[in-house]
Amino acid sequence: MRKFYTCASVLSADMRNLEKVSKELESSGVDMLHFDVMDGVFVPNLSFGFPILKAVDMSTNLFLDVHLMITDPLRYISQTISAGADLITFHIESSSAPYETIAAIKNGGVKAGIVIKPGTPYEAILPFIELVDVVLVMTVEPGFGGQSFMEDMLDKVRALRKYIDDRNLSVHIQVDGGINDKTIAKAVEAGADMLVVGSYLFNQSSISDGLEVLRNAVSE
Ligand code: DX5
Ligand code: ZN
Repeated sequence: MRKFYTCASVLSADMRNLEKVSKELESSGVDMLHFDVMDGVFVPNLSFGFPILKAVDMSTNLFLDVHLMITDPLRYISQTISAGADLITFHIESSSAPYETIAAIKNGGVKAGIVIKPGTPYEAILPFIELVDVVLVMTVEPGFGGQSFMEDMLDKVRALRKYIDDRNLSVHIQVDGGINDKTIAKAVEAGADMLVVGSYLFNQSSISDGLEVLRNAVSE
């Protein structure tokens, strides 16, 4: 089975002590920390922003994968970078021009990714695919943790995997939403290599045990 990276979404973590959570994630061997920024306009929910991202960055050496679910991401790229992001993903459905937004992210020296919501066809990403490091296929409607995995999104993952492999591109395919011990293998099999896991991981008694279950579920 292909090599894949685990990205822990702290949206479902215990917010009373994010420093402790960040350190526990680091020692658990998770590959990166996924940080969901929501503005209450692009998605019907609010989460957290720069001061909290900065605090997380000061608490851990983990790679910080920042998922912007906001209306005008271009306006906030430099602040996201200053707050410690290592990868910034933004939605193609947002109002910012994609070429400009990708350039702003890359000129800031961090990795760039483009995201599609469940209703957006994978073809929408293709004009930008050679410019980004990651394409993110949402497997739930963005806005909330704990929703069920949308299995029909796997067709998009398969199509993107074929497109990327046919051209020998080095773009990662990330999936976000509803990943657990039942769905992870399907996502990896379809071609995803960056798996965001939120509620499943934080509902386990220990994060490292949860990660082991996930990794075993893929290798079975
Ligand atoms: C949802 C967020 C996700 C969320 C995933 O809009 O982008 O990152 O935390 O949570 P689970 O794994 O619970 O679906
Ligand atoms: Zn996310």
